Amino acid sequence: MGAGMRRKLAAGNWKMNGLLADLAQLDQLAKAPLPAHVDTLICPPATLIHPALAHAKGSALAIGAQDCHAQGGGAFTGDIAAVQLRDLGASAVIVGHSERREGHGETDALVAAKAQAAQAAGLCAIVCLGETLGQRQAGDTLAVIGAQFAGSVPATLDPALLVLAYEPVWAIGSGLIPTLAQIAEVHSSLRAALAARFGAAPAATVRLLYGGSVKPDNAAEVFGVADVDGALVGGASLNAQDFSAIVQALAAA
Ligand code: PGA
Repeated sequence: MGAGMRRKLAAGNWKMNGLLADLAQLDQLAKAPLPAHVDTLICPPATLIHPALAHAKGSALAIGAQDCHAQGGGAFTGDIAAVQLRDLGASAVIVGHSERREGHGETDALVAAKAQAAQAAGLCAIVCLGETLGQRQAGDTLAVIGAQFAGSVPATLDPALLVLAYEPVWAIGSGLIPTLAQIAEVHSSLRAALAARFGAAPAATVRLLYGGSVKPDNAAEVFGVADVDGALVGGASLNAQDFSAIVQALAAA
């Protein structure tokens, strides 16, 4: 299956931003005619998932979460189970974002368990991978990504409910992005890793997102890279106009 048969995906990650009043941004996104071959997803903070779903109702805009617990429920104060997200109507959850790997000490094994829990609840798991600047400068990028893939994407996952996001840590929130050749190199290595893990045909259905400083003015060139099926967008997803411009660039790619 060629890239043309994968639906494109523009996913927004609001991180720890947004109050109820900011859901007005979603009204703008929900109102805009969304291109039929592009999936759009916004992952607001957990506090806003339920009201966000009400704002997105009746539109093609999907709502997801930024994290879930690896267990299905129980005595885990402050945590949220994937089934609880699904219960609200969320359709996807980001797992293994570098801000959680770094800030919360999340290991590849934990990320794998979270992805498994997400899928068990019927959610699409968006698994994030990415190298630090030091790792890139040392020439270790593909080895680091390969090891993260090996540890975070177990063969027990269902490729039909899996998205991978390549997010170089140094590109997140920095305004820096890798060269297009660097993005292409990592995405092609991830496609090969997926094929080795799941078989070529299932691997060809998994969307590969690029994330890290995607903005309206660089989106088109990033989306022109082979094996880039969309983006995971942080800062620019907070503004409906910017996110819409990225969606349009993806639709045109
Ligand atoms: P950014 O964040 O677009 O603000 O760089 C991307 C992300 O962390 O998902």
